[in-house]
Amino acid sequence: MSLVDGFGRVHKDLRVSLTDKCNLRCTYCMPEEGVDWISKAKHLTIDELRRVITLLCEDGINEIRLTGGEPLLHPEVVEIVKMLNELPTKPEISMTTNATRLDTLADELKTAGLKRLNISLDTLNPITFKELTRRDGFEETMIGIKAAQKAGFEPIKINSVLMRGINDHEAVGLLDWAIENQFELRFIEQMPLDAQHAWDKNLMITQEEIFNMLSQKYELTAAGNRGSDPAELFNIAGTKLKVGIIASVTAPFCQSCDRLRLTSDGQIRNCLFSLSESDLRIPLRNGANDSELKKIIFENIAQKKRGHGIGEPDFVQPVRPMSAIGG
Ligand code: 5AD
Ligand code: SF4
Repeated sequence: MSLVDGFGRVHKDLRVSLTDKCNLRCTYCMPEEGVDWISKAKHLTIDELRRVITLLCEDGINEIRLTGGEPLLHPEVVEIVKMLNELPTKPEISMTTNATRLDTLADELKTAGLKRLNISLDTLNPITFKELTRRDGFEETMIGIKAAQKAGFEPIKINSVLMRGINDHEAVGLLDWAIENQFELRFIEQMPLDAQHAWDKNLMITQEEIFNMLSQKYELTAAGNRGSDPAELFNIAGTKLKVGIIASVTAPFCQSCDRLRLTSDGQIRNCLFSLSESDLRIPLRNGANDSELKKIIFENIAQKKRGHGIGEPDFVQPVRPMSAIGG
């Protein structure tokens, strides 16, 4: 049976958060101190992950993106990639990472079967990096990105969130750098998923602003044919590359969403912005059979809302910050 919701959207893409821990503290994602970490005992084991993901793949998931927090902080991340790669349905395995640990892990991940990498990087300035992530780590990130190139990951996508007055003057510089290195850069509008609940729509850098800033130097034309991709892609004249803008707030793409999420403590979420989630961990540990687990999953998907409703008067930000949901 396919994982179809009440609006006919078929779910094919599973985002698996391996841990809520991170070695950075990006202001739009985590608080500086006092994070209420998910306890170790609640984290799904490799066997539990295999069980749940196998069931989801039987019903049509064909792409699995590992996220966090920072997925490379999971001590068994390479084994998890191997395990996923050995699933009978052969899903495509990708990862979103901050790259700080890629120097040591890129080769192993490639060998284990990781296909694609999305790397988060918002600035090329070490001082701004520290301000934005509240940690040192610029050097490790740049070394990690080089290691990913050397390991043969291709294409490498870079995710950037622009913040007003902090790094919004770097839009063109980031694209220059991406073109030089043959990366596909994607700007993401900042979403209300920060732990401090300090998001302000008026401060957000919009798709329109990003497009206008980039257009001062580059000629961009819509690439079309977007499918379920959250990014609107633009061809960059004079290059073979594209640049993307993910306008989650000003131009939501919920109508073509095919994404489902599994948190590190075994909760199924049908949207980044869901206010409820369905627990698989306790049933799993209490010996639920496959059809009982599938029933929980299908019921969760059936409740998926038409859209996230950001900006509407009754919008309520989810309790979990981005770091505990997984991009
Ligand atoms: N708004 C937009 N993007 C975010 N990310 C994390 N938090 C937010 C937010 N509040 C991005 C990260 C990462 C991806 C998974 O999501 O930069 O690249
Ligand atoms: Fe860590 Fe990514 Fe969140 Fe930044 S956005 S704190 S790198 S999980």
